[in-house]
Amino acid sequence: MKNGLKVGLAGVGTVGGGLVKLLATRGDSLAARAGRPIELVAVSTLAHRKNPDADISSFRLVKNPVALAQDPEIDVFVELMGGEGGIAKESVEAALRAGKHVVTANKALLAHHGYSLATLAEKNGVALNFEGAVAGGIPVVKVIRESLKGNDISRVYGILNGTCNYILTQMEREGMAFADVLKEAQKQGYAEADPTFDIGGFDTAHKLALLTSLAFGTRTSFDSIYIEGIESITPADIEAADDLGYRIKLLGVALRTESGIEQRVHPTMVPKQSAIAEVDGVSNCVAIDGDFVGDVMLIGLGAGGGPTASAVVSDIIDIARGHVLPPFGTRSKDLKPYKKAQMRAHEGGYYIRLSVYDRTGAFAAIASRMAAQGISIESIVQHRSRAGLAGSDRTHKGSAAHVVMITHQTTEAAVRKALAAIERDGHVDSKPQMIRIEKL
Ligand code: HSE
Repeated sequence: MKNGLKVGLAGVGTVGGGLVKLLATRGDSLAARAGRPIELVAVSTLAHRKNPDADISSFRLVKNPVALAQDPEIDVFVELMGGEGGIAKESVEAALRAGKHVVTANKALLAHHGYSLATLAEKNGVALNFEGAVAGGIPVVKVIRESLKGNDISRVYGILNGTCNYILTQMEREGMAFADVLKEAQKQGYAEADPTFDIGGFDTAHKLALLTSLAFGTRTSFDSIYIEGIESITPADIEAADDLGYRIKLLGVALRTESGIEQRVHPTMVPKQSAIAEVDGVSNCVAIDGDFVGDVMLIGLGAGGGPTASAVVSDIIDIARGHVLPPFGTRSKDLKPYKKAQMRAHEGGYYIRLSVYDRTGAFAAIASRMAAQGISIESIVQHRSRAGLAGSDRTHKGSAAHVVMITHQTTEAAVRKALAAIERDGHVDSKPQMIRIEKL
């Protein structure tokens, strides 16, 4: 058997701990699968964040991750510290410049700097692998980079954040308000103490940026992503969706259009009978629409020590076997500049919920504002919430009722203009709710 592949690990938190455990448990069989032993030789971890579940006492401790990245003994630098810049970026760049292969699960880093880091990796003839960065244990990076390479991909989308999917699932099952489920999730350790990245849609957007580059051969462009989180979803929306045959999921969607690529993250109505509607709780899923293969969907756990370590180890094994590909599946010099399709040109159906004062002419005025923008309404109902109209759901100023509409195919610009006019007319007592419907 060949010499061992020497690994240096920076970050021994949940995922790093999972990796230490996996390597310790599976040593011999991994060596057989990789064709050579995989030897963790040195680690870098913050003393106050020592992981009680991972025994790192037998490894050389290198305090500074940048020093570890350049350590002459190591072949592969595994970065599991996280963070879009700072020490993570510094150490990954140092490793690539020193001719070390890099494996990372850091989606924020790659979403912001993926193109420049991929260019640096190729210049130095080393791998920059990141299977664990997108949807944790779901092996989607390699699927797009390798298995689907013969296809032109028209759309890639998915449920990419377990925290949001858990919250939406609980809201639906328990009829609870967003804030109450979030508190519960934090108490149980599902949601971070600062959940902004998850619930605001930013974590989903980081992963989407990587999927977009892989699927469309474009340079990463995080700043082009339209992002909405799930904070505004109410039990009234979940009930209305249910009555209309939909579920609400936070989706990340990248779509090729005639005017460019749409990258968007927002709460989305998906038909109840679609496979994605069945993906509940902390599970993630990624769907890819290819021209020759058709529609492919992968479902699994998108976070956690075990699933993400599974992805990280597969990247290390590829390196051990000498399997080194351009990070985004296309050589950096051939990655196309990202061409953004404007969100206002987005076409689709829309769910609209208005809290409308119950008075003569209100309905007619709303209908005429929609017609003025050429929006055709598929259905309109006055919706009585099963939980009642009181509560965090709405404020009260006179008698009001939820009016729920589903539109036929229209544009984002038309819907925004119509809703602004409806608000100006003063028939609604709060900001209209608007949720996009994804064609599946
Ligand atoms: N916090 C993420 C989630 C996992 O809830 O899915 C890491 O990206």
